[in-house]
Amino acid sequence: MLTMIFACDLQNAIGKDGDLPWRQSTDLQHFKKITLGGTIVMGRKTWESLPGKLPERRHLVMTRGHRDDIETTTFEEVIKLSMEQNVFIIGGGEIYSLFLPHIEKIYRTIIHCNVEQPDTFAPEIDEDLFSVSETKFVEKSDKDQYDMTFEILVKGS
Ligand SMILES: NC(=O)c1ccc[n+]([C@@H]2O[C@H](COP(=O)([O-])OP(=O)(O)OC[C@H]3O[C@@H](n4cnc5c(N)ncnc54)[C@H](OP(=O)(O)O)[C@@H]3O)[C@@H](O)[C@H]2O)c1
Repeated sequence: MLTMIFACDLQNAIGKDGDLPWRQSTDLQHFKKITLGGTIVMGRKTWESLPGKLPERRHLVMTRGHRDDIETTTFEEVIKLSMEQNVFIIGGGEIYSLFLPHIEKIYRTIIHCNVEQPDTFAPEIDEDLFSVSETKFVEKSDKDQYDMTFEILVKGS
């Protein structure tokens, strides 16, 4: 199964200047809990935004270039792998758009803010195709900048 996970602001923005536009420790913990032990697929730019490999997850990076330092993959390989196991698409904007037609489940965190001059957005989710199966409002902790809402959207129900 292909699952997508992202955090966006109230205008669907997910990135600015090659990084996340907020500091949300609670959302990072949520991301870790969901993806731990799994396979995560990301674009080269998202890979380069990370401090390094995230523990206990298989990393697959999409690039049209050549890399020796990280395992790379292709669209076709990811689709094939997702028939055998759950694969998490973790961004960024280009990679979410590429896989959205094949996504069955979405973990979306709404960060309750409006980022100023964002440069990367999540693709629009067709609300006729996906329905919200869970939603949970979480007030910001002292390690978060903003309140947030955790959602799960599933296709075709
Ligand atoms: N809020 C969130 O949940 C979240 C999550 C992840 C990332 N982000 C943010 O999103 C931003 C990065 O997103 P982005 O859209 O700029 O870049 P991206 O999707 O992370 O990476 C784009 C790169 O992926 C490769 N690529 C794209 N399509 C491909 C294909 N069909 N086959 C092979 N490789 C392909 C290309 O790499 P090459 O140029 O090497 O060929 C392309 O430059 C950052 O600001 C990051 O912090 C936010």
